[in-house]
Amino acid sequence: MQTDTISIEKQAGCGALVSGIDLARIDDRTADRLKQALFDHGVLFFRDQTLTRQDHLDLARRFAPIDVNRFFPADPEWPEIAKVEKTREQTSNIGGGWHTDHSYDAEPALGSILVARELPPSGGDTLFADMYAAWESLPAELQDRVRHMQAIHSTAHVFGEAGAYAGSDQSALSGSRALPESIHPVVIKHPGSGKPVLYVNPAFTTGFVGLSQEEGQELLYQLLPHAIDKSRTSTFVWEPGSVAIWDNRATWHFAKNDYHGHYRLMHRVTMAGDPLEPAFPQ
Ligand code: SIN
Repeated sequence: MQTDTISIEKQAGCGALVSGIDLARIDDRTADRLKQALFDHGVLFFRDQTLTRQDHLDLARRFAPIDVNRFFPADPEWPEIAKVEKTREQTSNIGGGWHTDHSYDAEPALGSILVARELPPSGGDTLFADMYAAWESLPAELQDRVRHMQAIHSTAHVFGEAGAYAGSDQSALSGSRALPESIHPVVIKHPGSGKPVLYVNPAFTTGFVGLSQEEGQELLYQLLPHAIDKSRTSTFVWEPGSVAIWDNRATWHFAKNDYHGHYRLMHRVTMAGDPLEPAFPQ
């Protein structure tokens, strides 16, 4: 695949649409270009792809080693591929709230590659939010308040025995004994672009070092509207052959749950990340 056939078109709100590319056949130069585009735009969207499961894994390894998700069910024959599935009977979905994957890990995942396998007739879109822009949009006083703070990222309230999934019809995701928790800077220096990014998220950030639970929740609610302002988000409408590659350090995502009675199956491969550093060391 020649790098010069590729077009990378910035989308309103968040991300870029990449065309003129066959993701199953990329060379090293193209892989480098995609990686840079991912770091710059946060999420890349592709149409009309024909990735096999093996192609999906090979593509992920172009970015980083694979980081298998602890909680999601895997494809039975391909343990490195997580199934993001909602059956006709289920009413809960996976990822139906703003989050970024694996922020609870000591070295959070670089990103994920999501491939549409079976789609409902309509609905099931995924929303993305730009966390570079979220940081830039914060009023100066709020930036000054959080610039040197650290946040706690946990899993028990989501994947634990009494967590959010346990009481739902996606309870297969819950009950793990390994329930990691980590502390990260609230504003990280993005490992690929070097730019500051707001690195907290409503799903896994459970507190801030030095703040009470109530103060932490209040701060999170103050940050939230800046992160999900319409001007900094985009909606990806899936079609057969669609693929999204997102950077977990630079974006949040949200899987819409508006297609009850229909089946949706996505394959997700997650790529290992780097240690996170503060954007503004003390
Ligand atoms: C996820 O949160 O990884 C799932 C996104 C989706 O199913 O659209």
